[in-house]
Amino acid sequence: MNRLADPAARIIIALDVESRGPALDLVRELPEAEIFKVGLELFTAEGPALLEDIRALGKQVFLDLKLHDIPNTVAGAARLGVRHGARMMTIHASGGAEMMSGAAEAARAESARLGAAKPLLLGVTILTSLKNDDLAAIGMMPDAGAQVLRLAVLAAGAGMDGVVCAAQEIEIVRKKIGPGFLIVTPGIRPAWAAAQDQKRIMTPAEAVGRGSDYLVVGRPVTRASSPREAFRKIVEEMSA
Ligand code: C5P
Repeated sequence: MNRLADPAARIIIALDVESRGPALDLVRELPEAEIFKVGLELFTAEGPALLEDIRALGKQVFLDLKLHDIPNTVAGAARLGVRHGARMMTIHASGGAEMMSGAAEAARAESARLGAAKPLLLGVTILTSLKNDDLAAIGMMPDAGAQVLRLAVLAAGAGMDGVVCAAQEIEIVRKKIGPGFLIVTPGIRPAWAAAQDQKRIMTPAEAVGRGSDYLVVGRPVTRASSPREAFRKIVEEMSA
């Protein structure tokens, strides 16, 4: 079966908790989930040892550090991500083509050296927390869609395997770049879940229908009274 034909394999669970205990509890509570996202908060708290713990439970790690620095530094971090067995990693596309291509080359070389699969490198386009006014304030085009497209094209040209963007931008990115380029979307809210602080949200079924490859889901599952049941409901919704 194509890896993306299985809805459960397309859901990335965001482990936005402060420490190892609750993070690993969630991993154990969700046997049907395959990919778990470790972001800045949890990584700062626990470091790479936690990545090994998650992998020891038979799961894949999405290391979401949203790297953005000079090319040499980002390449070094990408190399270490490979060494720690990350399946997916994020790099800010606004760091530029040289930074992204350097990271892609470092990840490729390190994976070859270790005989491991190269992690999927994803370019972060525009954070869903930024509105057009915020973009103007930092000197970007005050048009999130246009800016996402511009950065996605840059990421594809620099050897990224895909991008992270809001579900609203899936279609423009897909149309411009074509199939085979991964589109990963956060801000996913099933109809039965609260929006919380996410502004531009979409249901799992809609995001899949528009062509998202992977959905990042945090609180609708992790804060549910039964995370496993919430996960199952999302899978059902995606399959319908
Ligand atoms: O709890 P919730 O489903 O909103 O979690 C979404 C996850 O996706 C969080 O880990 C958040 O950091 C991440 N994310 C996001 N918007 C982006 C990029 C990442 O919400 N543009």
